[in-house]
Amino acid sequence: MRKPVVLITGAGGEIGHGLVTRLSGAGSLIITLDVSPLDATLAPLVTREFTGSITDLALLDRVLAEFEVDRVFHLAALLSTRSEFTPVTAHHVNVEGTLNLLEFAQHQGESHGRPVTFIYPSSIAAFGFPDLDTKSRAGAVTEDQFAHPTTMYGCNKLYCEQLGHYYAHYYKQLSADAIARVDFRAVRFPGLISAMTLPSGGTSDYAPEMIHAAAKGEPYDCFVRPDTTIPFMAMPDGVDALLALAAAPRNRLTRTAYNLSAFNPSAAAVRDVVVAAFPDARIGYTIDAKRQGIVDSWPAAVDDSAARRDWGFNPIYDFERAFREYLIPTIRQRYHRR
Ligand code: SER
Repeated sequence: MRKPVVLITGAGGEIGHGLVTRLSGAGSLIITLDVSPLDATLAPLVTREFTGSITDLALLDRVLAEFEVDRVFHLAALLSTRSEFTPVTAHHVNVEGTLNLLEFAQHQGESHGRPVTFIYPSSIAAFGFPDLDTKSRAGAVTEDQFAHPTTMYGCNKLYCEQLGHYYAHYYKQLSADAIARVDFRAVRFPGLISAMTLPSGGTSDYAPEMIHAAAKGEPYDCFVRPDTTIPFMAMPDGVDALLALAAAPRNRLTRTAYNLSAFNPSAAAVRDVVVAAFPDARIGYTIDAKRQGIVDSWPAAVDDSAARRDWGFNPIYDFERAFREYLIPTIRQRYHRR
């Protein structure tokens, strides 16, 4: 008999690092799919590693034939800045790749007769303000407000939330046994900050880049204005949120996609706490107009009361604690700096 496994796409990325470690610690059998081979810290933790693209249907068919997947964490995506440089490729990977994974989950569910839990990280990029004035007046936005993304990545994420909802509720509704085989659940992540890895190609990257550069003793030019404010979360809380959402009883969930947030610092506030921890840090500002425009279109705060109420989302790390107990000590240790 085949044993149930968890499939993680984009497992070599930032969220994947934390998630693979947590799930393997909990005894789950994990298979991964990533365009690059996993690094030496992750590879030993997984049952099987597939190197390739989520756009490769033949590869997905092989996985389908060999494994009984009962949970999918679909993390693979091109992030927001990268997607603006190659929008058509971004659409191909972010949208068609997600469609492929939803079909994969549907077939898995049909073959083993139980719904496959499908966890999807969407993003604050699903929101979009027309101008800064609207952003400052909006306050903490709920999931259904200002869903007018200004980036290809944001459009992709918002649409894939809808696509997942369709698979979970309406797919094959005209066929005889219209039983949902995909149990789709999504979070809208704020910017994530990890002490272990650096992001690549995102627009919230200025916060983690500032911290890691200072810890390495390298100068850094922040690409957004000091007053720029969006929500952030420490990576361990992000991974916990994915696991909590996956474990929540279906009948508690009142939404498809949930806002999450933990703290909303300005770029200047992040710089201040980094400089306090690394007094020789050299952090200046060189504004990138395009990236500034993207972050200005994202909310300064989100209302995450639905996640708190429905499945007990409750991040451990506020701004102060994230830096004091997680980021600064772990990053210091990572780069061996005192
Ligand atoms: N952090 C991501 C990015 O900056 C947004 O989800 O692209």
